[in-house]
Amino acid sequence: MAKPFLKWAGGKRQLVNELRTRMPERFKRYYEPFVGAGALFFSLRPKSAVLSDINEELINVYLCVRDDLEAVIDELSRHENSEEYYYEIRSWDRDPAFPQRPAAQRAARFIFLNRTCFNGLYRVNSKGHFNVPFGRYVRPRIIDEENLLACRELLRHADIRRGSFEAIEEELQHGDFVYLDPPYVPLSTTASFTSYYKDGFSTGSQLRLREFCERISERGAKFLLSNSDTDLVREEYSDFNIDSVLAARAVNSNASKRGKISELVVRNF
Ligand SMILES: C[S@@+](CC[C@H](N)C(=O)[O-])C[C@H]1O[C@@H](n2cnc3c(N)ncnc32)[C@H](O)[C@@H]1O
Repeated sequence: MAKPFLKWAGGKRQLVNELRTRMPERFKRYYEPFVGAGALFFSLRPKSAVLSDINEELINVYLCVRDDLEAVIDELSRHENSEEYYYEIRSWDRDPAFPQRPAAQRAARFIFLNRTCFNGLYRVNSKGHFNVPFGRYVRPRIIDEENLLACRELLRHADIRRGSFEAIEEELQHGDFVYLDPPYVPLSTTASFTSYYKDGFSTGSQLRLREFCERISERGAKFLLSNSDTDLVREEYSDFNIDSVLAARAVNSNASKRGKISELVVRNF
């Protein structure tokens, strides 16, 4: 069974059961426009799916795993787990010619950095350069070929696109199901973790997302959304069904602060 091939901050692996009990019984197409590592997608295995994310390098990885996996595995096999080597590969995106490198080479770099960086985080600076430090793992699993092959099978039926969440709106139809897992509203300014993408995800983006939810409801689509348990989210979605669920969060690098915290699951059905 395919499982997410990336570690992702805010990944939903441990909330999957809570999400699954709140799914509609039947739906037509499955949409996941903040796909990240795609925990819910890999658990549900929908027959017809549209996966998207604003992160271009992430979408390139999905496309290469689906369409050119042999080349990705070949490139992955060249990578090694040492600090000096890690920083050399990390620095590739500082070169203006980086986007011209072969797609499979960029995809393998992404998987390699994800496996060997600190906590599997994905964070970029204001210039869009990946800036997570080396993770110092003794024997990280850089290539999990069996799982990548299983992921390829599942991704064969997926439409994979790069874009902002709003791009799917026009095609949504009655009976479609959309799972929305945006970067969370920060619990406090110091807890902010919205640097997946160089432009971040501001309060303005959160409000645009709420308006998007209203419009897609009018189109007859069902949505399930996860976000932090904050006043902003409770107020913005007060017209919908809101449940709180407990999640163990590991985004905080201070181990003593990794307890279970309440998160919200919002639905329009
Ligand atoms: C909380 S993560 C999703 C985690 C995912 N559910 C999982 O299980 O791994 C949020 C994702 O939203 C993406 N993102 C940020 N801004 C976006 C936007 N405007 N439109 C679409 N995706 C965006 C980020 O690149 C990131 O992958």
